[in-house]
Amino acid sequence: MGCIYVRGEKVEVHNDRRINLILPEWNIIIKDTIMGHGVWIWSNLNIYGAEVGDDSSIATFVEIGKNVEIGSNTKIQSCVFIPEGVKIGNCVFVGPNVSFTNDLYPRSCDENGNRKVKFEVVPTTVEDGASIGAGSVIRCGVRIGKKAMIGIGSIITEDVCDGEIFYGSKATKKGNIISNI
Ligand SMILES: CC(C)(COP(=O)(O)OP(=O)(O)OC[C@H]1O[C@@H](n2cnc3c(N)ncnc32)[C@H](O)[C@@H]1OP(=O)(O)O)[C@@H](O)C(=O)NCCC(=O)NCCS
Repeated sequence: MGCIYVRGEKVEVHNDRRINLILPEWNIIIKDTIMGHGVWIWSNLNIYGAEVGDDSSIATFVEIGKNVEIGSNTKIQSCVFIPEGVKIGNCVFVGPNVSFTNDLYPRSCDENGNRKVKFEVVPTTVEDGASIGAGSVIRCGVRIGKKAMIGIGSIITEDVCDGEIFYGSKATKKGNIISNI
């Protein structure tokens, strides 16, 4: 038996087991998730089928999908989206409004106009000690190396090696859609 902190209040949980914690008054839904000892969470968050290491913190308005792994002593700031396929190491800083992705060619519907439910999850890794600046967007499939530093508002589309600093963004026309898939 260990504990996590919900809005500063101690809550006992089995740290070695998957827990379900639904607190409607704070709009917290945690399902089927292993929460390490001393994890700190605030309010308005959904965590489904993930694993969070000891002493990490998850701020408000955060969405974490199934099979996501988050290490120990990692800080997830407000309004962060972490879908299935993302693995984040220890002592990582994820700034506010960072979006990870997991579907490289997303479509809402198939060619018949029916809602698409299946897609290929492309994995993304953030190694120990890395920091991701506020408002950055991470293209799925990349590795952000140990202690790398990503500046605010960056669009990361390629691997960042250990200890490298990356920042900047640029969107320009690259082509036209040539099929209706
Ligand atoms: C990337 C970063 C670490 C660089 O810091 P730095 O080495 O001190 O860089 P400087 O401030 O000296 O800036 C160097 C140049 O890069 C530019 N620059 C810095 N960060 C930039 C960014 N994210 N995007 C675009 N340009 C950037 C500066 O405008 C400056 O340009 P100039 O030489 O033409 O004047 C920092 O700017 C940053 O983005 N930190 C993350 C902050 C954050 O998200 N914190 C979250 C907590 S809420």
